[in-house]
Amino acid sequence: MRRQIIAGNWKMHMLTDEGRELAEALVGLGAEVPNVDVALCPPYTALTAVGAVLAGSKVRLGAQDVFWKEKGAYTGQVAPSMLVDIGVSVVIVGHSESRGRFGVPEPDMDDVVLAHFGDSDRTVNLKLKAARRAGLTVICCVGETLAEREAGDTDRVVTRQVEGALAGLDASTLDEVVLAYEPVWAIGTGKTCQTVEADRVCGVIRQAVGVLFGSDCAEAMRIQYGGSVKPANAAELLACPNIDGALVGGASLVAADFAAIVKAGPTAA
Ligand code: PGA
Repeated sequence: MRRQIIAGNWKMHMLTDEGRELAEALVGLGAEVPNVDVALCPPYTALTAVGAVLAGSKVRLGAQDVFWKEKGAYTGQVAPSMLVDIGVSVVIVGHSESRGRFGVPEPDMDDVVLAHFGDSDRTVNLKLKAARRAGLTVICCVGETLAEREAGDTDRVVTRQVEGALAGLDASTLDEVVLAYEPVWAIGTGKTCQTVEADRVCGVIRQAVGVLFGSDCAEAMRIQYGGSVKPANAAELLACPNIDGALVGGASLVAADFAAIVKAGPTAA
């Protein structure tokens, strides 16, 4: 059975003191639930403070994004080695919000403003490769928008995103890649994808990995579900054969909720 991985994506929340407090409430999870990988992904500014709390524990420190170059004139960017340097071992790439795809319409963001969130399949691929070269575990997000789902394009979109993200990767580096199926319309909206459908699309993703790298890689690949995961729906989602964990946004900001989700999986007991 694949080892489940639950990650909390704090997004743009938590000043350093708040992050430290939340991490203190969760740091014991590593020992409490030794059969589950747990990661906390605070914003860049809280990484060091949260990392100090997690040091020596089994809860891993994650970042929410990374740039693909190692150094240079890239104002505002953060290199993989810079993350490693401060104790980060996990990084999210290709989150729909970084791709400029939001589940909840943002009235103050027209197309020009949305272009600020510039991730594409190509840049996600560059980020993923650079992060793996630095030894980081990568959580790579894929998922369709509501319009794509309604047009019947879900499977095509996630397959294209998986192919784009994993292009040119050596199969030997895939053991530290986790894919996250995050239907954009379910993120932060309270609308969870029906369990059966979430499992089905995770199966489509697994199949895409199989076509690219063979069935052994596909079988070993961990695939999370993300999008309004809460304590109330976590057990059902995590029990699905193709779902190997969760990427949790809103509920990861509340210690008791995140802990309940971590403990809800089939291998948590
Ligand atoms: P949510 O976010 O749990 O708040 O829906 C999930 C995510 O975007 O990773």
